[in-house]
Amino acid sequence: MLLLRRCYSLTRCGRVNTQRLQLTPVVASCAARLWSSSSGEDQRSYQHIHRLRWRHAVAGLLAGTGAVLAYGLHHHQAEQSESSEVQIVEKTSALPVFTQEEVTSHRSLEDGVWVTYKGGVYDITEFVAMHPGGDKILLAAGGALEPFWALYAVHNHEHVLEILSEYKVGELSAEDQKKQQTVKSSDPYSTDPERHPVLRINSLKPFNAEPPPEILSDNYITPSAIFFKRNHLPVPQVDPDSYLLQVEGLPKGTLALSLEELKTQFPKHTITATLQCAGNRRSEMNRVKQVKGLNWGIAAISNATWTGARLRDVLIAAGYSQGVAEWARHVQFEGLDKDVTGTTYGASIPLNKAISEEGDVILAYEMNGEAIPADHGFPVRVVVPGTVGARNVKWLGKIVVSAEESSSHWQQNDYKGFSPGTDWDTVDFKSAPAIQELPIQSAITMPADGAVVDRSAEEVTVKGYAWSGGGREVVRVDVSVDGGKTWQVAQLRSSDKGQAPEPSPAPGRAWAWKLWEVTVPLPSEAEELEIVCKAVDNSYNMQPDTVPPIWNLRGVLSNAWHRVKVKIREDECEE
Ligand code: MTE
Repeated sequence: MLLLRRCYSLTRCGRVNTQRLQLTPVVASCAARLWSSSSGEDQRSYQHIHRLRWRHAVAGLLAGTGAVLAYGLHHHQAEQSESSEVQIVEKTSALPVFTQEEVTSHRSLEDGVWVTYKGGVYDITEFVAMHPGGDKILLAAGGALEPFWALYAVHNHEHVLEILSEYKVGELSAEDQKKQQTVKSSDPYSTDPERHPVLRINSLKPFNAEPPPEILSDNYITPSAIFFKRNHLPVPQVDPDSYLLQVEGLPKGTLALSLEELKTQFPKHTITATLQCAGNRRSEMNRVKQVKGLNWGIAAISNATWTGARLRDVLIAAGYSQGVAEWARHVQFEGLDKDVTGTTYGASIPLNKAISEEGDVILAYEMNGEAIPADHGFPVRVVVPGTVGARNVKWLGKIVVSAEESSSHWQQNDYKGFSPGTDWDTVDFKSAPAIQELPIQSAITMPADGAVVDRSAEEVTVKGYAWSGGGREVVRVDVSVDGGKTWQVAQLRSSDKGQAPEPSPAPGRAWAWKLWEVTVPLPSEAEELEIVCKAVDNSYNMQPDTVPPIWNLRGVLSNAWHRVKVKIREDECEE
């Protein structure tokens, strides 16, 4: 083990003096001696470090939340490499000055990976394998980190700078620093729209937020300002006058439709549809065992009216015919939001859903009777009712009819369900289908967990929402105030109070949620209530009663019975 530590020390010493490559033979011989002379325990420990690196790197890459993990790993390594020799070298060495040209010549793992940050030069070759965002880090190789960090706000933390400082090898020449400063790095989120202050923010950049539950169930149609927002990237600025929607993969070749053409050349169709994020209620899974992803509460779900052209009509205009169905299986969507590599957000849905008249998939340009707000996909988004939020691509730029699913990260390596026994070491994203239709769901929006009701009130009113994917209609919601021993049936509604209910949906086309409410007498003996709700859809699908059997490493599809605890306060005169 001591030998291993010395090897690390040498590596670090070399890095500080920029002589790392010359020291490599020393390190290599250390390693060789280590392997030939070390005990089995040392070897196992080395393998453990190596495995840990990869597990953390891959998990972070998939979840996009790995900076903290990387920090943990860095700490682990720092412990391994600590020695007085290193500290002396660090204190006395003056860092050399490099030109931008010299930095630029280090752009690969073979030549070394160098970057600059605020005038410092860093050799991050060894960090590449540990980078939580995977080898995207190589895009910054030979240049400045600032524009990349501006896009991924996860880097704006002191511990990330601490990690970087370990890799410092020199300073950038004053002349090149000046040149860099003239190339302004702008915050790609600076043009994001303003948001309603009531939203509970899960992440600011990119913006992800949900409304407080008690406000969510105030409206059957969720006002756009408080509709949950789930963005993976900065909101793109799209000029509606020059906007063109490309439709590809059909016999007539590429069709490019302007916003005006979409609005005027196709019949206008309006649907009321609920969107739900796959990660809604993830926080309940986190309470069982930590998962990776934004810690959504129960309000990553909302309901709106959507108006636009039917996707089916547009595909037919682009040449779709029965012959296409013989080879095509999927319809892919690309957003106009891009990451630093120029990769756009993307997803796909089965062709059957896209082309079916009953599928009601629309290319929406209005939300709740107005132009779609920037956060929700202005000027056009696809609304795939009954299907997980992730496939409802915003800022839609391209539609491709294809034999293949979208190759995007979000279709292939995210938004999939796994067994509770699958962990980040064993997960194989290829083995599971992409989530499309979501399962039956319901949750209690009022009272809130931890609320207090007065005994004198004699009863408690419980409110919530219920929805099922695939157009399956919610037919019943059961509510219990004693943890599930006894049940009452809640009253369902499909409109705001005092307004005419929406017409009953055609079978298989129930795209919108139902709000529900029930008033239950307070049990005389109870000091605390455990309120539980569970919904049933018209296929008699029901929610599972607890979280552990459906726990999964990404915390998706969280739809166990929802439970809140409420205290009963005795009246003062009775005490
Ligand atoms: N479309 C694009 N172009 N970019 C995105 O980040 N997020 C998806 C989907 N469509 C996303 C996107 C996800 S994961 C969800 S849950 C919904 O949009 C959220 O839609 P909303 O923000 O309108 O509620």
